[in-house]
Amino acid sequence: MKMLRYLCILFIGIVLSCSNENNKTIVTSPDGNINLFFEIQNGQLQYQIKKNKNQIVNISKLGMILESGLNLGQDIELVDFEIEEFNEIWNPIFGELSEIKNNYKSLNISLRKDNIKFQIIFRIYNDGVAFKYVIPNQDAIQNYNIIDEYSEFNLSSDDTAWWIPAFSYRRYEFLYAESKIDKISKKYFSENVEDISYDTLGIDAAHTPLTIKKNNGYLISIHEANLVNYSSMTLAPKGNGMLKVELYPWSDGITKVKLDNQIISPWRYVQIADNSSELLISNIILNLNDDPDPDEDYSWVKPGKYMGVWWEMIGTNQSTWFQSKFHAANNEKVMSYLDFASKHNFDGLLVEGWNKGWYSEWCCLGEGIPFSFTETFDDFDIDLLSDYGLKKGVRLIGHHETGGQIQNYENQIEEAFEMYNKYGIKNIKTGYVNDVSKNIKVYAEDGSISKEWHHGQYMINHFQKVIDIAAKYQLTIKTHEPIKDTGLRRKYPNFISREGAKGQEFNGFSSNGVNHATDLPFTRLLSGPMDYTPGIFQLNNFRYTEPGSGEIDKNAIVPSTIAKELALYVVYYSPMQMAADLPEHYMKHLDAFEFIKKVPVDWSKKVIINSEISEYVTIARKDRNSDNWYIGGITDEKERNFDLGLGFLELGETYTLKIYKDKNTTHWKNNPMEYEIDEIQLKIDETTTIPIYLAPGGGFAIEAIKL
Ligand code: NOJ
Ligand code: CA
Repeated sequence: MKMLRYLCILFIGIVLSCSNENNKTIVTSPDGNINLFFEIQNGQLQYQIKKNKNQIVNISKLGMILESGLNLGQDIELVDFEIEEFNEIWNPIFGELSEIKNNYKSLNISLRKDNIKFQIIFRIYNDGVAFKYVIPNQDAIQNYNIIDEYSEFNLSSDDTAWWIPAFSYRRYEFLYAESKIDKISKKYFSENVEDISYDTLGIDAAHTPLTIKKNNGYLISIHEANLVNYSSMTLAPKGNGMLKVELYPWSDGITKVKLDNQIISPWRYVQIADNSSELLISNIILNLNDDPDPDEDYSWVKPGKYMGVWWEMIGTNQSTWFQSKFHAANNEKVMSYLDFASKHNFDGLLVEGWNKGWYSEWCCLGEGIPFSFTETFDDFDIDLLSDYGLKKGVRLIGHHETGGQIQNYENQIEEAFEMYNKYGIKNIKTGYVNDVSKNIKVYAEDGSISKEWHHGQYMINHFQKVIDIAAKYQLTIKTHEPIKDTGLRRKYPNFISREGAKGQEFNGFSSNGVNHATDLPFTRLLSGPMDYTPGIFQLNNFRYTEPGSGEIDKNAIVPSTIAKELALYVVYYSPMQMAADLPEHYMKHLDAFEFIKKVPVDWSKKVIINSEISEYVTIARKDRNSDNWYIGGITDEKERNFDLGLGFLELGETYTLKIYKDKNTTHWKNNPMEYEIDEIQLKIDETTTIPIYLAPGGGFAIEAIKL
């Protein structure tokens, strides 16, 4: 670890002035390419960012207003500042890489408003700039509640954003809109992507991470890191390319953040890339988070692969979560899944609908769902099944659908986790389906109910509470309808994965269209792992009109190809990966299933071979536990021919390449399940390439085994 410290006075060269009239500071990234400019102009805090003299963020204000009316952005004076350089390499216990470099310069600015003292801390990395507010406990402040944080990101009107609407009913589960920044609105979304015009609560804003292609060619992603005990940040367009932070309020609509004795905001950051591939290799979000506490041991957290008694409810629609003739979570069925999962070496089996509380109208308004997290339905014998699985090397994966009934869950959580400990369960999928986004009901003792937003401080604290309690029981959590990932997985590795986007399941009961899969790597996935649940092999004629109908819904399709479904295991990182389809569908394509069995979930290296935002991407990853590499490539609706450069493999070495690919006649719409598997041996030099064809909506996957 290396830490250099510079004092203001020593740095005459880069500090234009230290006086209170014209407080202007420039700090340059370690590689010299990115400049942060900080300035106090007439008492107002301001910053801007440039890369190689090109404007990334124009002059933008910083500040926040507390409930008392105190405006910590105006009439501010500089006290002093400090610039430090930090450089270290750290080793995630599992993940996409075995080594991560964390190298930045920090600018720690001490400020004053009358007798109130606070700080703004910047970090300038080679791939972006971050800042946060720190308002320490002090006599001069009685009330630390925030009613507005007005940090700005001043961009250009003709910058293009890929965005999903915030303050909208279905959390993050939307297709992406692509538009000029100023167009970010529910109206634009309703006219161009999906009708949300009935969503009249809340303002026009986009969720983060928000990906933007600037008119000067740079790609940026604006997001937050280390979101703890705060409200989540959205970005609202204010015209002329200006985006302003808007925090989710509490149910009163006014208070954004409630704090007792100090304010430490999450990091706000702008990741900056020269091209779409560079956007995918940043580790800034993890570098803005902390290591686990030194006395916490997380060696029990293990990545793994799992199957599930799941797609037959959400996808093929042949079974129910609730008790019926078609209830899936019954002993006989679960045992047959356990047999299959064991035979094919899976670590876990998710079983949904095992517990009392499911009823036919359970979805999706969170109306008084009486879920029990300890009582099983009569046809699910958890003693028998957990035992049966453990003997075969497959652990049950727990499932806690809360329906967004937080108090009901928190009241049972310790007992439920204890019970899972007893049955050898290590991982739990949690769920918060409650489709009106401001509908998290909180019951006060007097019986009154307040309705909180899904992404406000109340929920952020709830998600954190679940992770903390789970750690006590050595349980890992994979959340659906979660709060977005802000890199907390570094400090809390048991928050192992999450959904938090429109995932595969929407292809079951509706459709994501063919182009969504190539949007995700450049948007949602920039924030962290996703439980997308890839690996659907029966891509059409899979869905019944209703359980027991025997009638196939001809319109239901998963807009993909089998080769593309394989590619997703490499392209979409998650330490818990699901083989989402039914055993009987895998039985029809056991040769392709082989790739799902082989593909690792823990990696040491990552190379982006090619990409164009939202059009195609090819990623190679090296297995953390062998010398083998795995490559996945996906395309949007267009077919593509690539000459794949393999010069990243070990030069001079020979590899056997098993290539799973679309055929010339494969097509996501008419012929999605056709593929071929080639096997070749190649000695690698710098110039080695192989030709690959990707069908419309297709992809490919390669296992490169070093000989
Ligand atoms: C929504 C989740 O995303 C889905 O995977 C799950 O099956 C349902 N909730 C039921 O819990
Ligand atoms: Ca979901």
